[in-house]
Amino acid sequence: MPVFPASDENLRAAAALLAAGGLVAFPTETVYGLGGDAFNPAALARIFEAKNRPRFDPLIIHIGSLETLEKAADLSFLAEPARQKLMLLTSRLWPGPLTLILPKKRDLPDLATSGLPTAAFRFPDHPAAQALIRLSGTAAAAPSANLFGRLSPTRAEHVLEQLGTRVDMILDGGPARIGVESTVLDLAGERPRILRPGGTPRELIEALIGRVDCGPAVSGESGPGFRSPGQLKSHYAPHTPLKVCFRGELAVQSPDPAGAYLFFDPASRDQWLAGPGRGAGAQARILSKTGTLAEAAANLFEILHEMDALGASCIYAEQVREEGLGAAINDRLFRASARKE
Ligand code: TXA
Ligand code: MG
Repeated sequence: MPVFPASDENLRAAAALLAAGGLVAFPTETVYGLGGDAFNPAALARIFEAKNRPRFDPLIIHIGSLETLEKAADLSFLAEPARQKLMLLTSRLWPGPLTLILPKKRDLPDLATSGLPTAAFRFPDHPAAQALIRLSGTAAAAPSANLFGRLSPTRAEHVLEQLGTRVDMILDGGPARIGVESTVLDLAGERPRILRPGGTPRELIEALIGRVDCGPAVSGESGPGFRSPGQLKSHYAPHTPLKVCFRGELAVQSPDPAGAYLFFDPASRDQWLAGPGRGAGAQARILSKTGTLAEAAANLFEILHEMDALGASCIYAEQVREEGLGAAINDRLFRASARKE
């Protein structure tokens, strides 16, 4: 399956494919998405098939402009406080790595939302994604363009490797700028709740709309017993077993000669390298050269993809600071470490 640069001409061809029911993998600022027409049930079914994704895991509806939100979202069902929060969030944080759960319109097929009365909406902050969706004249239902449960793709090559010929076209927009998926915020329940930490830090959301709940609790609108499926413990996983370690923990442990080590920054790697029995041959990587969480997030999946190919017995990954983007990084590391369910 050829990969095409996201040129104007290729974007037009991709948009025509999307509008005709095809599947197009495209770059966003977070990770690559696997897009299909959100209003075409056959295209939606192909998305689930291509990813081996269970149908109980609903998709994110990507819009190409703020004005098109109400094509698929039914805002008349939102209570006034939630409506005000929505206005604040969309005016300040969209386009961007924030997905909002809102009541859906009937025209949006049940397959997109796994039968839920709500849907997930996102306006991606990437020129190619925006152009593709706008030119297609529809909205794109797009999960991350990986096989279900595996590492998310931050480069076109990652999509090619996992989905290959299962997609009609892969648009290459270079490496993803943010590198972790969007934050999923439920605005349809009684109180706003973060269902998945991601590219928009909780602190930024709370500065705009006040306190938000966090974690996989059940939203009133999502039906009894429903857990956001992105909260499945084993998700975003490499093939190699992965163990998350507290900061500093690795430095005091005796090394595993067959292991590969992932540190936050050069300082913690160097502290580890200075310990006994750690030769120059040690497989050690760092998430951020400059010690910033943004750089660490942008590198996370790419480095995990790379480390997965080393043939190590285990990847030992150091936890990062649990603040800002650190919450999303730690979340992905813990999920990658969970045993498959
Ligand atoms: O950054 C991202 O969000 C990427 C790019 C491609 O936009 N997309 C992505 O999609 O991560 P996906 O399908 O891998 O994750 C969608 C998440 C899942 O955790 C899903 O359970 C949740 O959104 N979700 C979708 N609809 C929902 C709903 N109605 N209620 C609760 N959670 C929902
Ligand atoms: Mg995903």
